[in-house]
Amino acid sequence: MLKGKSLIEPMDLSVEEIDEILGLAEEIIKNPEEYSQVCRGKILATLFYEPSTRTRLSFEAAMLRLGGNVMGFSSGESSSAAKGESVADTIRTIACYADIVAMRHPKEGAPLVAAMKADIPVINAGDGGHQHPTQTLTDLLTIKTLKGKLNNFTIGLCGDLKFGRTVHSLIKALSRYENINFILISPEELVVPEYIREIMVKKNINFKEVERLENVMEELDVLYMTRVQKERFFNEADYIRLKDSYILDKEKLKNAKEDMIIMHPLPRVNEISVEVDDDPRAAYFKQTKCGMYARMALIMKLLGVEK
Ligand code: CP
Repeated sequence: MLKGKSLIEPMDLSVEEIDEILGLAEEIIKNPEEYSQVCRGKILATLFYEPSTRTRLSFEAAMLRLGGNVMGFSSGESSSAAKGESVADTIRTIACYADIVAMRHPKEGAPLVAAMKADIPVINAGDGGHQHPTQTLTDLLTIKTLKGKLNNFTIGLCGDLKFGRTVHSLIKALSRYENINFILISPEELVVPEYIREIMVKKNINFKEVERLENVMEELDVLYMTRVQKERFFNEADYIRLKDSYILDKEKLKNAKEDMIIMHPLPRVNEISVEVDDDPRAAYFKQTKCGMYARMALIMKLLGVEK
């Protein structure tokens, strides 16, 4: 039963609950008009203390397409956080006005603090370099829609695996599905955090860590590119040295499978050349659209509303 729950990290959802959300999202994709009023009278608050295009606006589009209303702020500077208000006090205030909250915050754990203080569902829309569970629902819906399954494939995760919260959440979620092989492609300085490696080891999951994308391209069913997360670096020189570690172009794709899909949570900087956008395997804008449907289904489940 998801009604009234908060979503802070992917493991807050069982595999059955994820399947339920994805199943509902697929239904919404097929018959969107049947869901256009299910959240009439409900309010979503988007509290974004960090920049966002897709997550905030897809949450808002999701609620509007369900017939609900939205309010919120798009930077901490435009809220009373700028005057020193704590997350705990802000969420208690917002809970007086809204039925559900999506929060993005640069500090890891801030949405968890909010969920502990709120009597309405709080959704983590990205906390620092930690987790991004609704991106994971987006990614799973994309893979399910395009590959028809969530098991038995090899996924290459490429780029900033240290600070890339979407990667951490996706590995956690996929580690519960059958026969997923991970190939982790990054410079040595940007490998996955130890706690993520420990999860894969503990669950006996097949994974390898490599530096060169070209060497593993032909093995991949899914290639998940990521941006080097400039905002998480302490030292600009390190960012400049690492930012162009991987640039996917047509040449690098020549050994890729015909039915491989190329994903990216976006925004991209340089890591996928625009010449790849026309390749039929490029799935990142389809992925962006899946984000809205996944969030529509999630909002419905957490609010306990039905068709
Ligand atoms: N994928 C994602 O989180 O994008 P935004 O930062 O634009 O929300």
